[in-house]
Amino acid sequence: MSHHLLKGKRGIIFGALNNLSIAWKVAEKAVEESANITLTNTPVAVRMGDVSQLGEQLNCEVIPADATDLEDLEMVFAKSMEILGGPIDFVLHSIGMSPNVRKKRPYDDLDYNLLNQTLDISAVSFHKMIQTAKKMDAISEGGSIIALSYVAAQRTLFGYNDMADAKAMLESIARSFGYIYGREKNVRINTISQSPTMTTAGSGIKGFDGLMDFSNRMAPLGNATADECADYCIVMFSDLTKKVTMQNLFHDGGFSSMGMSLRAMDQYNKSFDQYRDEQGKIVYG
Ligand SMILES: NC(=O)c1ccc[n+]([C@@H]2O[C@H](COP(=O)([O-])OP(=O)(O)OC[C@H]3O[C@@H](n4cnc5c(N)ncnc54)[C@H](O)[C@@H]3O)[C@@H](O)[C@H]2O)c1
Repeated sequence: MSHHLLKGKRGIIFGALNNLSIAWKVAEKAVEESANITLTNTPVAVRMGDVSQLGEQLNCEVIPADATDLEDLEMVFAKSMEILGGPIDFVLHSIGMSPNVRKKRPYDDLDYNLLNQTLDISAVSFHKMIQTAKKMDAISEGGSIIALSYVAAQRTLFGYNDMADAKAMLESIARSFGYIYGREKNVRINTISQSPTMTTAGSGIKGFDGLMDFSNRMAPLGNATADECADYCIVMFSDLTKKVTMQNLFHDGGFSSMGMSLRAMDQYNKSFDQYRDEQGKIVYG
């Protein structure tokens, strides 16, 4: 049921790839809540993914752009303002990718050129996006900007690799820019720290099934779904959260405040064997 929470608002959604993407659900809900939006993703994602189909479904334009490229970002804000007819009220940064994870480089054998790419795509792009928008005065007074994060920014989780460093930086950018843009134009900048979610990006993480099961057992409310994350984003884009800024907002069913749950303890008690690799060597942790 729609509450028209975003009536009259203009938004840009970065990062819808397919119908599993968190950004896909946010786009659907934003339109359901009466917003006018544009969608954007890399040219290759637009070619290979399903975002054009989402554009048709929601009757909104898809703008191919690389979020690490300043000229592309300028073009996205300029075109979106032209198409939507004015400055932008909300932006979703739903972008993440680690070439080190893709190439199975472990954290103690990182390729530093790939690390630079991880940071550029997954964190610095957020700064580039906000800086570009600010220079163009593309965000309206009291606008809301959200990026999606993960608890690995604060706590070490096996397999999350250099994405943990990217998320820590992403959350820091929300605070640093939140101060400047808030003071100058009441623009809110926050990150939402979402439960593990079965998407294309999520499933690239080593041991992702185990991670999802563990989080679900630990969290009193269970893992938050992509749909539920989209609901939270909508509230953050709406006028109901005008004084929330510079925060990392956990949307994880309570996982981040837990130490041990009975459900997780029960599973843990099933095996006290040390974890060994294929050669029989005990693996750290
Ligand atoms: N899935 C999870 O478990 C989970 C948990 C917490 C946070 N997140 C975060 O949510 C966000 C969305 O990820 P998702 O899980 O929906 O997966 P997804 O794979 O559907 O989305 C990732 C998107 O990033 C886009 N992208 C990659 N490089 C880009 C670039 N240079 N410019 C523009 N776009 C680019 C991809 O094309 C893709 O659409 C990411 O920031 C991710 O880290 C995911």
